[in-house]
Amino acid sequence: MLGKFFVVLLLALTPHAILNVELREVETVYEWKQMVFGFPTEADRQEAIANGNLVPENATPIDVATHQHPEKGSRIFTTTPRFTTGIPYTLAVVTDKNEANGPVLQPYPDYSWHNSNGSDCDRITSVYRVAITECDQMFILDTGVVAEVQHCPPQLLVLDLNTDTLSHRYIFDSSTYTEVASRFITPIVIVNDPPPTGSCSKVQVYIADVLFHGLVVYDSELNTAWRVENRFMYPDPDHGLLSIADEKFILMDGIFGLASDRELLYFHPLASVSEYAVPLNVINNRTIFEENKEAEPHAFRRVGKRSSSCAAQAMDSHNNLYYVTFDPIMLTRWSPNKPYNVKYEMEFPADPKLLEFVSGMKVHKNNAGKEELWMMSNRYQKVANGNLDFSEINFRILRRALDDIQNASIPDEDQSQ
Ligand SMILES: *[C@@H]1O[C@H](CO)[C@@H](O)[C@H](O)[C@H]1NC(C)=O
Ligand SMILES: *[C@@H]1O[C@H](CO)[C@@H](O)[C@H](O)[C@H]1NC(C)=O
Ligand SMILES: *[C@@H]1O[C@H](CO)[C@@H](O)[C@H](O)[C@H]1NC(C)=O
Repeated sequence: MLGKFFVVLLLALTPHAILNVELREVETVYEWKQMVFGFPTEADRQEAIANGNLVPENATPIDVATHQHPEKGSRIFTTTPRFTTGIPYTLAVVTDKNEANGPVLQPYPDYSWHNSNGSDCDRITSVYRVAITECDQMFILDTGVVAEVQHCPPQLLVLDLNTDTLSHRYIFDSSTYTEVASRFITPIVIVNDPPPTGSCSKVQVYIADVLFHGLVVYDSELNTAWRVENRFMYPDPDHGLLSIADEKFILMDGIFGLASDRELLYFHPLASVSEYAVPLNVINNRTIFEENKEAEPHAFRRVGKRSSSCAAQAMDSHNNLYYVTFDPIMLTRWSPNKPYNVKYEMEFPADPKLLEFVSGMKVHKNNAGKEELWMMSNRYQKVANGNLDFSEINFRILRRALDDIQNASIPDEDQSQ
């Protein structure tokens, strides 16, 4: 009852709801001043240095994903796309070994998978984000691009996390992307036949093409992919100038964050304050979009507007949508039972310094069956402006259990101002 009282009180003072400050804080799991790349052997490290493949100041971590395995334990994965050279590997597992700049990474699944410069398309070239499913599979979305050069076609790799081996590879064909212009950055995966009864063979992957403004749908049963385009996937120039922690930069990114309640695909461009949605049963129909990528324009709709733009987003099993807005920096929840507008945005307590540009976000169900929000924050405003200070903490993996806020509601009667 006390919690409800605080929500009501604060609603009168701010445009959005702020939860009772007694609620738990966001916890920092790992933090880095600069990324720390470990190598299987010292010879591998020396070779990487000699080839110009180890330039840690070039590395910006983007995503986080976590998985629990009875024998392998809890593993936390992170990605570092090859915006430029000097990145020895693009997908890593975080170890508990620490150096001055932070915990040491090790290449995942192993170093032999990582091709430093796009010269071997059988290996992994550059990854922005991954998705882990209830089938103990990791879906790795590889752009094939290093430093603006399309070395390899984009590909989707499916790794079995029980054995850390490849179970499937799908190479995208030119009907789904445009060389260099496209950039596949975000995959989300829906398993239609999950365990314990299902066999994980009916899987859809939705992929955001951030630069050429499209969505790609991959269907595992058909083992094929098609492209979907819509005007809502474009960046809005009115929201292309961003401000984070009082630093301004321009980022005209299109469709970026994805989430789904298994009926709708929610999505937003980064340069935008709107959230959009389209029914899955429309975009899952290959026939419609094979003929015309821009088909069914009226199936897409705007569901609402947020207080400011954001990057990543994630949805929990109650269909709450989570994201961190840029200006001001707020960790926010939007409940699908309410209209999507600023009044029904619920902020919960978090130190803004921890949350400067959350580029990766996942809802993970832990061993106890409770859902947790995992985030990668990377102060991208400083990456964009070239003023990262490596004597400060720049990159963080954050966690917050969700059970205390998943059911919290904002009372309707207090919405008038
Ligand atoms: C690029 O890859 C080739 C083949 O693996 C290798 O010989 C070469 O040293 C690499 N160059 C750089 C800069 O890593
Ligand atoms: C896909 O769309 C086509 C054309 O509108 C329609 O004929 C077909 O029934 C749809 N397929 C499914 C599985 O809904
Ligand atoms: C939250 O809601 C779910 C159903 O949506 C219910 O099963 C659960 O018991 C609720 N938890 C709390 C703490 O109220």
